[in-house]
Amino acid sequence: VKKVLLFGDIGIDDTVALIYARLNQEIEIVGLVADYGNVSREDAVSNIYYVMRLFNFPQGIPVILGAEVPLTGEQPTYYPEIHGERGLGPIIPNDDHELKIENFFEIVNIIERYKNDELTIVNIGRLTSLATMFILYKELMKHVKEFYIMGGAFWVPGNVTTVAEANFHGDPFAVNIVLTYAKNVTIIPLNATQKAIVTPGMVDYIDSFGQTKILKPLMEYYTRFYQERDPSLLGSPMHDALTLMAIMEPDMFIYESYPVTVVDKLEGPARGQSIAETRPYESINNGEKKHRIAFDIQYEKFFHHFLTIMTG
Ligand code: BDR
Ligand code: CA
Repeated sequence: VKKVLLFGDIGIDDTVALIYARLNQEIEIVGLVADYGNVSREDAVSNIYYVMRLFNFPQGIPVILGAEVPLTGEQPTYYPEIHGERGLGPIIPNDDHELKIENFFEIVNIIERYKNDELTIVNIGRLTSLATMFILYKELMKHVKEFYIMGGAFWVPGNVTTVAEANFHGDPFAVNIVLTYAKNVTIIPLNATQKAIVTPGMVDYIDSFGQTKILKPLMEYYTRFYQERDPSLLGSPMHDALTLMAIMEPDMFIYESYPVTVVDKLEGPARGQSIAETRPYESINNGEKKHRIAFDIQYEKFFHHFLTIMTG
């Protein structure tokens, strides 16, 4: 069983990933870090508890309040048109529960607790919290066995700009820190996740087993957004669930290794601006470090595995 500390910005496909993790006996979630991204970190906390209650997650899994803004301090953009008003599509979780929230240091406790136990960290949101762990606890982070990161678009169109994918675009500075300091990094970019399409027919089949309750309304909301944007799509991409699959299903993926660099150059102060002198931001990842990148998946393996796990 893989012990997983999950950093997520709990929107719809993050939620499907949580349901997948709950139904997959080979994955044990040992902590959840709620980050800004698709939704605010407060909604991410609320959605985590909504799913944990609905799917009877084991008691006592720490829910940690993660980053509220990127390292630059900018106010994030949320995406209700994709993930819904609160990140659960049409579902509005009631707020009358007292939610037990741990502070950021709980992440240190979790890594200490599992340091001889091969902890896996999976990041399915922006990388701000994970980068902060490297900034504050670089040595401790060496006890983490492996990192799986959903993000990036390598020589394929992005989904927030022509080149940028949402998780990497949300905090490019954080991406560079993680890619520079983390070891055993597997990146699951849009190249792979855009092929992990779940169709309405697949959702109906899974729904007919009656174990995944909110999957259908979530996927109808999420798929409507994708199909309105591209009517040729037969369904919608399971970016985050696919990333969790990479932990235990290596032969579903086609990997190549490259040195990955995210370069985000700050322009110098514009004429007449009174801001302090800035300096060009050089990529600290000097291209030495190679990371494993999934450039493709074997769709039939994804199809079969997703249906098998989700129908319990
Ligand atoms: C990533 O951004 C979010 O929209 C999804 O949850 C996924 O983690 C895809 O670019
Ligand atoms: Ca996500």
